[in-house]
Amino acid sequence: MIKELDNELNLIDELESSFNYVLKDIKSDLSSNPFSHYLLYFDNDKIVGYINYYLMYEKLEIANFDVLSDYQNKGIGTKLIKYLVDKYNNLDITLEVRCNNDKAIHIYEKMGFKKVAIRENYYHGIDGLLMERKEIMKDIYILGIESSCDETSFSIVKNGCEEISTVISSQIDIHKDYGGVVPEIASRAHVKNVTFVLEECLSKANMKISDIDAIAVANGPGLIGSLLVGLETAKTLCWLYNKPLVPVHHIAGHIYANNLVKKMEFPLISLVISGGHTELIYMKEDYSFEKLGGTLDDAVGECFDKVGKVMDIAYPAGPMVDKLAHIGSHQYNLPIPLDDDSYNFSFSGLKSAVINLVHNEEQRGNVINKENLACSFQDVVCEILTKKTLRAMTELKVNNLILAGGVSANKGIRERFKDLCELRGINYTFPEIKYCTDNAAMVAAAGYFAYQKGRRADLSLNAYSSMELK
Ligand code: KG4
Ligand code: ZN
Repeated sequence: MIKELDNELNLIDELESSFNYVLKDIKSDLSSNPFSHYLLYFDNDKIVGYINYYLMYEKLEIANFDVLSDYQNKGIGTKLIKYLVDKYNNLDITLEVRCNNDKAIHIYEKMGFKKVAIRENYYHGIDGLLMERKEIMKDIYILGIESSCDETSFSIVKNGCEEISTVISSQIDIHKDYGGVVPEIASRAHVKNVTFVLEECLSKANMKISDIDAIAVANGPGLIGSLLVGLETAKTLCWLYNKPLVPVHHIAGHIYANNLVKKMEFPLISLVISGGHTELIYMKEDYSFEKLGGTLDDAVGECFDKVGKVMDIAYPAGPMVDKLAHIGSHQYNLPIPLDDDSYNFSFSGLKSAVINLVHNEEQRGNVINKENLACSFQDVVCEILTKKTLRAMTELKVNNLILAGGVSANKGIRERFKDLCELRGINYTFPEIKYCTDNAAMVAAAGYFAYQKGRRADLSLNAYSSMELK
């Protein structure tokens, strides 16, 4: 049992008998030093461990710390320090430990202490290691949940940049037969998968929900029935384990997939290209979003899928169109869509042009060269995306670019942006291919920054099929 001595001054005599070599001056210490405090550990009525610490405004210094030799290696010291860390979570805490005490150093590191300085010969021949736990240094673990469309995914990310474990269960095979995602089937599949995916994610990370600092969930935009499965799971876990609930915009998630590759630098422009979105976003700092422009009709991913469909490619057609485009050459003449001075996009005209071209050729009895058509289409898409994005970067004098969303997996688009950025000295980052399409690692990464900005929701949080990014 742990007790704070401040309220138990009558225990001091007993203390002296157990720890007389250190604590003989405790009475005078407590009466003369208003900053000094003691924390005691009892085995029945016997004091077997203690910490003497100084509380000084925003700082807590652990000055002395001992456990009776018969009681060492039983985790008593850890419990005492953890008590202080939990109680004074909002203070910077310092302590000293022998440099060769790897086990203790490891335990302190797990509590968020970092090595700060070495004090030579501090312990009569052994160096002392000064460790500090700053509130801002504490590692933050976010559990991310993503179920906006046809992927059920959970992920644990540390400090918004280090992925601990991610599990993605894709329903692509279920929806393939229907040529697109069937919302009702998608939500039922999420319900079936959700507990398995969560359990696998926790077991891969070797963590429990109680180790998590907050739960971030994508609550929109997306398919409402699908979103609700992830959202209700998040709310239930937050309620059961008393964790903060952090709502995350699905597109913020796609953007923060880049932070898992490299710390994002600001100001930046993000080109968001997915199955449901085509947007240019300006970010002056973390978790601040300003939409410069977007598609007026179809999203670019949707256009890839529909163009693929007319070429008899199974849903989602994007990856296959990309593959074919690399084999073919630009032979078909297609219009460059909405080639104007705005930051908006339009893809329905281009989609119709491809569909009409295929139908006309079929009627004439000609065979379409799929590789060349894919290449011509992808080329036009690359042309308009790079043109508008790079113009926005010049006009807004921004030198950091990131791509986001499922279509940022496109090899042709990545190559074109890479070449142009290198030519112009633009700092660019693309998400890892596996985190371009929907996943929870991106939600957990974004969730960390939302959490740091104080974004919280209560259990009345709802899901939205469309939602403004802010
Ligand atoms: O981001 P995402 O998983 O879902 C939404 O939030 O919409 O994006 C899915 C979209 C699909 O339209 C898919 O065809 C497209 O991303 N996609 C690609 C590629 N890989 C996925 N499009 C073009 N080239 C690719 N390599
Ligand atoms: Zn998405």
